Amino acid sequence: MSDVVFRKGEHVLLRPLQRADIPAMRRWMNDPETTQFRLARAFPLMEKAQEEWLDRLSGSTTEFGLGIVTIEDNELIGWIGLHEVDWAHRTATTSTTIGEADHLGKGYGSEAKMLMLDFAFNALDLYAIRSRVMDDNKRSLAYARKNGYEEVGRLPKWIRRQDGERCDEVVLVVTQEQWRPLWQEYLRNRRSPG
Ligand SMILES: CC(C)(COP(=O)(O)OP(=O)(O)OC[C@H]1O[C@@H](n2cnc3c(N)ncnc32)[C@H](O)[C@@H]1OP(=O)(O)O)[C@@H](O)C(=O)NCCC(=O)NCCS
Repeated sequence: MSDVVFRKGEHVLLRPLQRADIPAMRRWMNDPETTQFRLARAFPLMEKAQEEWLDRLSGSTTEFGLGIVTIEDNELIGWIGLHEVDWAHRTATTSTTIGEADHLGKGYGSEAKMLMLDFAFNALDLYAIRSRVMDDNKRSLAYARKNGYEEVGRLPKWIRRQDGERCDEVVLVVTQEQWRPLWQEYLRNRRSPG
């Protein structure tokens, strides 16, 4: 297991991103399969840009990045971010990428999000988190709803997909109050972390 543990769940743990993660992250963030659902335009991502981004994260209190590591194999499979933390309004946004394709759809993203929301709501006492998702990204919509997010609106045909078709941008929000019962249920159901 990683010696640095920021949050530990049943199947994955979260730990701060580090320089050694850059090659894997660069592989994921340049892979069209992984980036097809990103709302930020997927331009080629170079090593220097990623190093600079990581340096900016290290001193930030408005943006946090954590690696998602499987507990069983100690493998870095993705990363999760808490972005745009607004201390006046106590709101933020999140993003998640499971970069290793054979680990998609195994519940790792949902647990990583639950652990990130533990940080956002229990530790930082934020009020609400927003997520913006392409309407075509059914897995991301399912996983957001599983974590308590509700659709609050949509921007029709706002997104131009990589194949040139347009689709809606869905805006989802979860408040601390909505999330708290899910957190209690998660704690009841997970085997106690060792
Ligand atoms: C979105 C993402 C983070 C979800 O993580 P994940 O580990 O793959 O998802 P989970 O296994 O936790 O599944 C969450 C829910 O989605 C459902 N789901 C899984 N695959 C699905 C699919 N292809 N279509 C619809 N729903 C799906 C699951 O059934 C699960 O719900 P359930 O437990 O109630 O059955 C991950 O798929 C990912 O990184 N995708 C690529 C990048 C991306 O789209 N990021 C989000 C941009 S907004």
